[in-house]
Amino acid sequence: MSDRKKVTLHTLFNKVSNHEPITWLTCYDYPTAYLMEQAGMDMILVGDSLAMTMLGYETTLPATMDDMIRHSAAVRRGAPNVFIVGDMPYMSYQPSVETAIRNAGRFMAEAGCDSIKLEGGIEMADRIQGIVNSGIPAMGHLGLTPQSAAALGGYKVQGRAARSAKKIIDAAKALEQAGAFAVLLEMVPDRICKIITERAENCIIMSLGSGPHAHGQLLIYHDMFGLYPRFKPRMAKVFGNAGEVILNGLKQYVQEVSDKSFPQPENWFNMKDEEYDELMGML
Ligand code: KIV
Repeated sequence: MSDRKKVTLHTLFNKVSNHEPITWLTCYDYPTAYLMEQAGMDMILVGDSLAMTMLGYETTLPATMDDMIRHSAAVRRGAPNVFIVGDMPYMSYQPSVETAIRNAGRFMAEAGCDSIKLEGGIEMADRIQGIVNSGIPAMGHLGLTPQSAAALGGYKVQGRAARSAKKIIDAAKALEQAGAFAVLLEMVPDRICKIITERAENCIIMSLGSGPHAHGQLLIYHDMFGLYPRFKPRMAKVFGNAGEVILNGLKQYVQEVSDKSFPQPENWFNMKDEEYDELMGML
């Protein structure tokens, strides 16, 4: 168990005031959450990217509320002191403010999350406001929003043109005014991220591939450790190749079982001679 103090909204805003960058990664399971707790991570995102990284779908859209709750609860058990953001999956908030509030509440009540995140700009400000008014900390997500990848024309950098950049800047302010405690900017140019961060008054701006000017950084865990076989986005730095380590271990296991060098006596359990003899007498 770790003896860390629980990371709260207060802790996060203090880091912003002290110009200390906030650390944030995706995580979907108990053992990884346990390691993140030990590593001193500030925040975890239980992202709907689990549909791709954990369940093998091609997009995030198939993630359901039940998937998200089950994984968020596992992460909470592994990381009791990290600030956990539950990611609202496709169609869990788009239909109405009421749907959004009910599903946000499930992340808090059933999974022990500290907050939720949802994707979208000015059109989602009323969802953020409804959730915040229900007492749930809410975060926005602008730029590349994977749930709308079809409408955005794919997984592309957003806000490169002046007009689209202005739309993102206005949306960030609208979400802040609606009560969002934070906004994630995914794949927007660094200069746009800088403007939004400088204009934020009471809102934490986080970057995923949007440069160094935000109050903190997010990466997808599977991209950092060579654990997602389909592609590696440009913004992801590989911090270690766990995929290669695991693959080598798996190959060695196949080899050792095949050539009978595994298992060895230390890998199995025995019984006393007298018990064995008594058993043989019974057979
Ligand atoms: O689901 C997720 O991991 C996300 C990130 C891409 C920001 O929303």
